[in-house]
Amino acid sequence: MKRIAVMTSGGDSAGMNAAVRAVVRGACAQGLEVLGIREGFMGLVHEHFFPMDANSVGGILHRGGTELRTFRYPDFAKPECRQPLREAFLAQGIDGLVVIGGDGSFRGAHCIDTEWNVPTVGIPATIDNDIEGTDFSIGFDTALNIAVDCVDKIRDTATSHGRIFCIEVMGRASGMLAITTGLCCGAEEVLIPEHPFDINEICTRIDAGYDRGKKHAILIIAEGAASASEIATGMRLILDREIRVAVLGHIQRGGEPTAFDRILASRLGIAAVQQLLGGKRDVMVGLIGGEIFATPLVKESPSVRVILGEYVKLQQILH
Ligand code: F6P
Repeated sequence: MKRIAVMTSGGDSAGMNAAVRAVVRGACAQGLEVLGIREGFMGLVHEHFFPMDANSVGGILHRGGTELRTFRYPDFAKPECRQPLREAFLAQGIDGLVVIGGDGSFRGAHCIDTEWNVPTVGIPATIDNDIEGTDFSIGFDTALNIAVDCVDKIRDTATSHGRIFCIEVMGRASGMLAITTGLCCGAEEVLIPEHPFDINEICTRIDAGYDRGKKHAILIIAEGAASASEIATGMRLILDREIRVAVLGHIQRGGEPTAFDRILASRLGIAAVQQLLGGKRDVMVGLIGGEIFATPLVKESPSVRVILGEYVKLQQILH
């Protein structure tokens, strides 16, 4: 193996830069050449390849977003869209590819490995933390800390006015970011797509909380469960209380990565290069119980995380 390429793909997450840095420096330390690919799979369409060395990743470890830039390019899933890109890609003499992104990006990476015969390794990076084969994806911890900071601030004003706040957090179809935010902020209710909820029961519990002397009610709502404004509208029909809505949105994706995400990204970046050098392919590196493991890049049947059930039980006791 002489030359590898690296790209970031899908929604950005804090720590992607730290992962690129680790891949590039890890590869250079082993005498490999590295090509960067700008704008993920869209970069393949426009042949956005450029040489990288240890110096080209200086000063990016602490930066949010991705210096390689990224793109959502669902068309890569269509064989007729990716086939014309094959020759230009192979002409770069790339012997291995590292794709940093979420499960959509891994499906594209899997095609490059299996159809184009280029050994490919994935590094999980998404604020959603919904990727099987790793306890944490890069960027989740940063997004969680941002959400916690925002909710703590909202709580001050909620308490001052005695209001109910419906706060929507990201996470796509996963409730991981919502349930962990709820646990960290002592939310009264957390609505996630993995568990059914009943708006009447929620309102009864909130009323009972006020009767017991609570000064506010914070509801954390995963975007995959419902929209915060929908929930607020439903609650206004049942409760005669002041209700406000806050949608945290993309603020959760920006900012400097936490120390945890920097270390995770550094470990996974180095591990990805080691996998390629060890002849492994079509795998993803992830952190399981504190140790790094390689698992298939595309899983047969995605499973709901066991830890999620534990978090829900905790929330039900601690709210
Ligand atoms: O997958 C990461 C994520 O931030 C989700 O939580 C969210 O639903 C989605 O991306 C937003 O995507 P976009 O930035 O393309 O609007």
